[in-house]
Amino acid sequence: MNSLNRRRFLKTSSAGAALAFAPAIGRAGVSANDKMGVAVVGVNGRGSSHIQEFLRDDRVEIRVIVDVDEAVANQRCDDIEKKQGTRPTPVADMRQAFDSKDIDIVSTATPNHWHALTGIWAMQAGKDAYIEKPVCHNVYEGTALIAAARKYGRMCQVGTQCRSSQAIIDAVAFIRSGGIGDVRFARGLCYKRRKSIGALGNYEIPSTVNFDLWSGPASYTDPRLTRSRFHYDWHWQRHYGNGDLGNQGPHQTDIARWGLGIDAHPSRIISYGGRLGYRAERNDDSYVDAGDTANTEVSIYDYGDKCIVFETRGLDVAESADEELNKLFKSTSGNKIGVVFYGTEGYVVQDSYSHCYVFDKDMNVVREFKGGGEHFMNFVSACESRRVEDLNADVREGHLSAGISHLGNISYYLAEKNLLTVADISAELAKIPSLDDNEATLQRTVQHLQKSGVDPDREMMALGAQLDFDPEKEVFTNNDAANALLTREYRAPYICPLADKV
Ligand SMILES: NC(=O)c1ccc[n+]([C@@H]2O[C@H](COP(=O)([O-])OP(=O)(O)OC[C@H]3O[C@@H](n4cnc5c(N)ncnc54)[C@H](O)[C@@H]3O)[C@@H](O)[C@H]2O)c1
Repeated sequence: MNSLNRRRFLKTSSAGAALAFAPAIGRAGVSANDKMGVAVVGVNGRGSSHIQEFLRDDRVEIRVIVDVDEAVANQRCDDIEKKQGTRPTPVADMRQAFDSKDIDIVSTATPNHWHALTGIWAMQAGKDAYIEKPVCHNVYEGTALIAAARKYGRMCQVGTQCRSSQAIIDAVAFIRSGGIGDVRFARGLCYKRRKSIGALGNYEIPSTVNFDLWSGPASYTDPRLTRSRFHYDWHWQRHYGNGDLGNQGPHQTDIARWGLGIDAHPSRIISYGGRLGYRAERNDDSYVDAGDTANTEVSIYDYGDKCIVFETRGLDVAESADEELNKLFKSTSGNKIGVVFYGTEGYVVQDSYSHCYVFDKDMNVVREFKGGGEHFMNFVSACESRRVEDLNADVREGHLSAGISHLGNISYYLAEKNLLTVADISAELAKIPSLDDNEATLQRTVQHLQKSGVDPDREMMALGAQLDFDPEKEVFTNNDAANALLTREYRAPYICPLADKV
């Protein structure tokens, strides 16, 4: 980092200094051109892929890199300079980028608790926004994002890149034209090993990180870090992340909803599961993992005449006894991440970002769809055309699909202490209308736990609250405590406005 950039980074590392310093961003070191200027916000993991995608597009130039971790920001600026020929300005406070006239596009891959506020601030400042999934950390943030996009006439694309994948576009068209008969039910899967993130504790915050800015809308205590690894593992702490239901889930539930032609929230929701298996793994009944999201979760979404089920499995997935799913995913072992559509005349299976199979009722493959896509280029094209309908993943789609994970997690969070035996969960699920075979899904989940050494009658699962939701008004009609979880307590000045205040 040169001394000017370093001074700028440190100075803007406090919220108060940011706006005063805003004019400092400009085209210093950047040749004037007609390209659209990009600021990428949050560049450790996924954000580095955003950078690679923008570097492939001649219509844009990356001019600012925003990251609250100075080391990460500088590394990315070095990399970009080598490839782009010009060095972006590294800053810690995103508001500095929003104040710059040289920025047209803001692309964000921060942790989830920052997504909506980043998008809203960017669009209020007249920028178009690409926002990672889940597009919001809670339901009201999603509604506010839609309102901001429409009010300020901005393009807002969500990072559900499957929406631009040719294989999935073709498979969805095939399903919706009756290719596998009548389809009312889809199952999304995230069977992916997630190890314990370590014991709940009191850990050092890396010296290169501005933790006040990292925390943003989430409350900031002490400062204190309760997990050992700073980056990424926040996914499994609900204050910041949404578990795998809200991490992998928004890709698969988005495809499920798209294929089923559902353009609304569900009207009834229930989840069951827990954060299980880590005590058995450590042979220590008192072990407390720093995560507090479920690593085993089944959520059932009732849309009246249609249904989506999403299953999260975080323990060992090396071998699976799920006969039907093994056939549909053509594998008995390893991760299974995808969607199965169940039709009266066959099945469609999405098993990667760029591949789908069609099976007949006898489980013979009768067709395949292949091909990826250009999700970022689709976004940049819409920024040029100024037509929302050109976006493959407009913010409204992102809101409905993120909403699925939030509603499922609310059911679980409300009743996580409601620990029941398998027999009791089974008895309760038998009362719940669903297009899935609830009992079969429960028993497959139990088998999965047992294979990892968990006795679910000892380390028990919680049966979540059965929730009725008004999809239009976005309120629960049978549970006031659930309504409180449609939003969060914000920490000034990082307050995400409600939709009518954007
Ligand atoms: N679309 C996809 O396929 C895909 C894949 C992976 C991750 N993601 C999403 O990308 C997001 C980031 O995930 P990750 O795994 O890269 O997380 P990460 O923790 O590795 O990286 C997040 C980065 O954001 C920075 N950051 C935090 N607050 C910031 C702020 N206020 N301003 C600027 N920078 C800030 C952090 O310092 C860090 O460098 C998540 O929302 C995740 O769901 C999407």
